Amino acid sequence: MESCTENRDRRIIIAVDGFSSCGKSTFAKAIASRLGYIFIDTGAMYRAVTLYALEHGAIRSGIVDNDLTVSLLDDICITFRFNPQRGASDIYVNGDLVEGKIRTIEISNCVSAVSSIREVREKLVAMQQEMGRNRGVVMDGRDIGTVVFPDAELKIFMTADPEVRARRRYAELQAKGDGVPFEEVLANVVQRDRADMTRAISPLRQAPDAVVLDNSHMSVEEQMAWFEREFARVQQSLRR
Ligand code: DC
Repeated sequence: MESCTENRDRRIIIAVDGFSSCGKSTFAKAIASRLGYIFIDTGAMYRAVTLYALEHGAIRSGIVDNDLTVSLLDDICITFRFNPQRGASDIYVNGDLVEGKIRTIEISNCVSAVSSIREVREKLVAMQQEMGRNRGVVMDGRDIGTVVFPDAELKIFMTADPEVRARRRYAELQAKGDGVPFEEVLANVVQRDRADMTRAISPLRQAPDAVVLDNSHMSVEEQMAWFEREFARVQQSLRR
């Protein structure tokens, strides 16, 4: 099999979109490290804005105040810094490390509402486009292949059975000592699928030229082998 790192390969943009808790970030991180590309978790950016809104009174009892959230946007500076221990970048808001605070069920429950605000999306999409300007990036999210980089050379749309996804998220939360019941995690997965697909601005959609990866019953190794084939196919088509 042709190696991904062969220097005839062109540096491209790889968009990884799909449902929540599909393992998009794990997959995207693995392929970025395989290729020596930058990995950008755009979900973490929406979560970081949600955390800031929560900490600054723009979310109360789970209700998002859109106007107040928008008024806070200019005060939010999001940066990523590579963490060699994790082999990925940690996210910072105004210089504070927030990686550990953005993956709670409280943030998960409010992030769909925050990510449906037009001004939030405009700010984050512009940042993401800037980050991918020199190509050589793997970006995971919901609208990367449709809105952020409609010209991405490889678009992957990931999906998996909702129960399988809820079980994965539940195991992650348990490992962190979060005792949230499985039923609540499953309800959050189903509710976020609906919210992501039905929001007015940039809903979760499979780009017409995306390739689908359903990893419900695939190991990480099988997913990587699938990726190698897709990457080789794209590189071959770019050489023609
Ligand atoms: O990938 P994740 O579950 O961490 O994403 C958190 C939320 O952010 C998700 O519910 C939808 C939103 N999101 C988005 O609207 N657009 C993106 N490109 C990435 C995430």
